[in-house]
Amino acid sequence: MKRIAVLTSGGDSSGMNACVRAVVRKALSENMEVVGIQKGYQGLIDRQYMIMDTRAVSGVLQKGGTILHSARCQAMMGEPGQKLAVENLQGLGVDGVIVIGGEGSLKGALTLWKRGIPTIGIPASIDNDIAYTNMSLGVDTALNNIIYAVDCLKDTASSHSRAMVVETMGRSCGYLAVVSAIACGAEFAIVPEAPFDIDAICENLRSRFREGRDNSLIMVAEGAAKAQDVADMIKDRIGFETRLMVLGHYQRGGSPSVFDRMLGARFGVTAVDALLQNKPGNMVGLLTGGINLNSLEDVFKAGCRPIDDAVLKLAKTLGV
Ligand code: F6P
Repeated sequence: MKRIAVLTSGGDSSGMNACVRAVVRKALSENMEVVGIQKGYQGLIDRQYMIMDTRAVSGVLQKGGTILHSARCQAMMGEPGQKLAVENLQGLGVDGVIVIGGEGSLKGALTLWKRGIPTIGIPASIDNDIAYTNMSLGVDTALNNIIYAVDCLKDTASSHSRAMVVETMGRSCGYLAVVSAIACGAEFAIVPEAPFDIDAICENLRSRFREGRDNSLIMVAEGAAKAQDVADMIKDRIGFETRLMVLGHYQRGGSPSVFDRMLGARFGVTAVDALLQNKPGNMVGLLTGGINLNSLEDVFKAGCRPIDDAVLKLAKTLGV
């Protein structure tokens, strides 16, 4: 194996740079060349590349975002785009590709593999919705971002005796909302995985304030409801003074946590090893017992990763 390519694709997440750095440094230590593909699959189709040496990845560990840039690429979903991507990789003379990204990006990785390109996927998405890994790259940093914001919001909510509705990301997975609800002491987590009863929420809010509590916190995953709608429903039903915050893309940025830097490093090195050991068509993941390889086909078939039962049980026990 002489030359490999690496790309970051889809929604960015903190720790991607640590991961790219690990891929580059590991590959160079094995006397391989690394081609960095810019702007994800779009850059692959448009032939935007750079050769990466150690200088290209120096000083990047602490940076959020991705130095390779990213994009959501419609063209990669269709036959002509996929063919062009494969042709361009063949033209580059690479012996393997490492794709760092979320669900759609890993689907692209599976496509490349099925079209004959030795490919390894690395799960990176703040939603933590990818199967065959307990944590995706960027989740921990996103959670730290969320709790910083929510702690600030709780201060002002207490001063004014208000209810705060906070919307997290998570299109089809409520992991961020549930874990941050536990970590911040929220009263409710509204998630796409379960229906919610706004009347029960209102009743609970009313009795909390009757008991003299000075704030209430409701975490909402974007895939379940809009914070504005939840706040409006509360106001309409019980006339409560409610404020809201949509955390949005703030959650995806910022300097990665130690956990994400380490995860990126471990994922990156394992991915290069997998190519060297001729184990393409797999995704690296963090499962009990360490970093594992599982087939991209299985990851894709499994669909959205459910929130861990233990996390849900903990939330219930603590009154979320
Ligand atoms: O998939 C990760 C994610 O951050 C989702 O939680 C969110 O819905 C989406 O990306 C936002 O995508 P974009 O950056 O394209 O607006």
